[in-house]
Amino acid sequence: MTVISVPQAFNEDDLYVDLRSIVDAPLYLKCEGFNFAGSIKLKAAAEMVEGAERDGVLTPDSVLIESSSGNLGVALAMIAASRGYRFLCVTDPRCNLSTRRLMEALGSQVHIITEPDPVGGFLGARIDYVEAMCASDPRFVWLNQYRNEGNWRAHHKRTAPAIARDFPDLDVLFVGAGTTGTLMGCARFFAEWHRRVHVVAVDSVGSVTFGGPPARRMIPGLGSGVRPPLLDESYVDEVELVEEADTLRACHRLARRGFLFGGSTGTVVSGATSWLARHGDSGLTAVAIAPDLGERYLDTVYQTNWLEDLFGKGVLDPVRAAHPFPESLPRAATATTTATSTATPADVVPLPLPRSGS
Ligand SMILES: Cc1ncc(COP(=O)(O)O)c(C=O)c1O
Repeated sequence: MTVISVPQAFNEDDLYVDLRSIVDAPLYLKCEGFNFAGSIKLKAAAEMVEGAERDGVLTPDSVLIESSSGNLGVALAMIAASRGYRFLCVTDPRCNLSTRRLMEALGSQVHIITEPDPVGGFLGARIDYVEAMCASDPRFVWLNQYRNEGNWRAHHKRTAPAIARDFPDLDVLFVGAGTTGTLMGCARFFAEWHRRVHVVAVDSVGSVTFGGPPARRMIPGLGSGVRPPLLDESYVDEVELVEEADTLRACHRLARRGFLFGGSTGTVVSGATSWLARHGDSGLTAVAIAPDLGERYLDTVYQTNWLEDLFGKGVLDPVRAAHPFPESLPRAATATTTATSTATPADVVPLPLPRSGS
């Protein structure tokens, strides 16, 4: 039995999905979404808040402020509520509505930046806003996930040792890159380990993190419009870039087998699968880190209109070919939608359930 008195005390650290039967590659997926904040960002948030408290930077009248695409924001909102701080999250329109509502439900405020900076994109504009707020009132405390050493230390202390414990024969580790906290913490840990581990960073096409040209990115979490200050590329063996359409296909492929993961996880799984396909089934022990779960993406990644408007009608065709979609089921004549529903008729086709007693 596990008994806790603060939400951040619980984190499932030992859960892996064996993906071989789903992606046809020898890959174990470490699930990091099973905590009260719903993502891997809980570890970074807890480490950074503890550090600021230890250093005397956070006091009872402090107001936490942070730029986040959503998941760190939820984690900080949860910890702020638990420890009695106020919190203002600065985000942008790509932050999922449910993520925004979660932060507000936890008592935090959310500010949405609507105009990207011409050079730094939405991230640059968010950081400018945070800096302006901190300059305007000394009560604001910016933990700054982009530069805070606690961000990568959390994973050096917790995520990587857990993987090392569970996979003593680890050969390859796939880690998504956002702020690169997870990547740098794990890569630094395995650089010091007794066994050589090939660390593959997974990033989205359009992110500038590893020197690629900026381009439109619609899925929050991984990738960056600004080069992450925490990144030290000398610890990274290889970079795998993933198109967002492939992220979507990976998410749906997993969902069709009952695993509803988030966009970051879809990216990491897609990158890892491509890498493993190029390297053949050479008996490698491979682990990928799944940073999130899927419920926060029901209005985006898992919403037919959103998908097809942004990525084209055929975006899921390869998944459709492998798994029957609801569209192929017989339609009931009485299928209806409510006036406010954004679902397409295909989304609401009821399954032909047996009548009770028949
Ligand atoms: C869901 C999710 N996955 C992955 C990441 C990236 O992790 P990191 O910032 O440690 O690179 C983020 C960052 O915000 C995230 O929200």
